[in-house]
Amino acid sequence: MEKQYVHYHIEEGIAIVTIDNQPALNALNAPTLNQLDKTFDDLTKNQEVKGVIITGAGEKSFVAGADISEFLQIKGNEAPGFMARGQKIFNKIEAFDRPVIAAVNGFALGGGNELAMCCDICIAAENAIFGQPEVNLGLIPGYGGTQRLPRLIGPGKAKEIIFADERINAQEALRTGLVQRVVPKGQAVEEAKKLLKKILSKGPVAIKMAKKAINEGLKFSLSEGLNLEAQCNGICFGTEDKDEGAKAFLEKRPANFKGK
Ligand code: COA
Repeated sequence: MEKQYVHYHIEEGIAIVTIDNQPALNALNAPTLNQLDKTFDDLTKNQEVKGVIITGAGEKSFVAGADISEFLQIKGNEAPGFMARGQKIFNKIEAFDRPVIAAVNGFALGGGNELAMCCDICIAAENAIFGQPEVNLGLIPGYGGTQRLPRLIGPGKAKEIIFADERINAQEALRTGLVQRVVPKGQAVEEAKKLLKKILSKGPVAIKMAKKAINEGLKFSLSEGLNLEAQCNGICFGTEDKDEGAKAFLEKRPANFKGK
């Protein structure tokens, strides 16, 4: 039987997905990527799941990148297909129709930083280290790093990190906007749960539409993005939750959203 490098459990509607290959600091080998892909297929079908947290096993590493031991077998002509496979999985995580939070508990290097960037929000433990060290191997980031990092933190800072393998700590990641919260070591998952519970108390269709408007709108011009925002809000205005939210406000009571 194939070794399990990815496991998840569900707590109060929150799926906690753990990358677990501690001897290699949770590096992403081929089976891990396949299992991550399958996990998100399962979570997509499971309507009990309202939100997801991705973390790494242990206290040292979130994910220390793609598995370098696999690189010797990959030839130049095979690399685009290899990279496209990883990109497709990361795109699937980014497009997951419910909120996804990265709880970064240590090294987030290469594919680890790229995985964190696919998540909606990133919470880092204070021992987290972020970087894109691929140039040390004569390579460039392959799972979206050259595209998502400059979009998140600007091209100059992204080039400093990618060209020079400048690794940044959690506080610097917070300052640059790569992460949204820094918490004491060992607390990232707990903080992610707390934030996710707050998000899940809001109208689920509204959260889904906000994610769609932000993610898809970033690919558009401002006017196309504004049009998308209006369309997405049209869907929200058509829900029972919109009436419940307005009534709850006027009646000075908490809203009881149904997700429809
Ligand atoms: N792929 C495969 N194995 C990896 C790995 C990776 N990306 N990152 C770490 N490992 C393995 C190491 O080879 C080592 O295995 P070993 O015990 O069999 O020798 C084990 O994980 C522990 O790593 P080690 O380097 O001894 O730990 P450290 O605390 O000294 O350093 C890092 C930690 C993360 C700084 C260092 O492991 C590192 O630089 N890793 C590579 C990061 C990288 O380049 N990622 C991008 C890949 S494209």
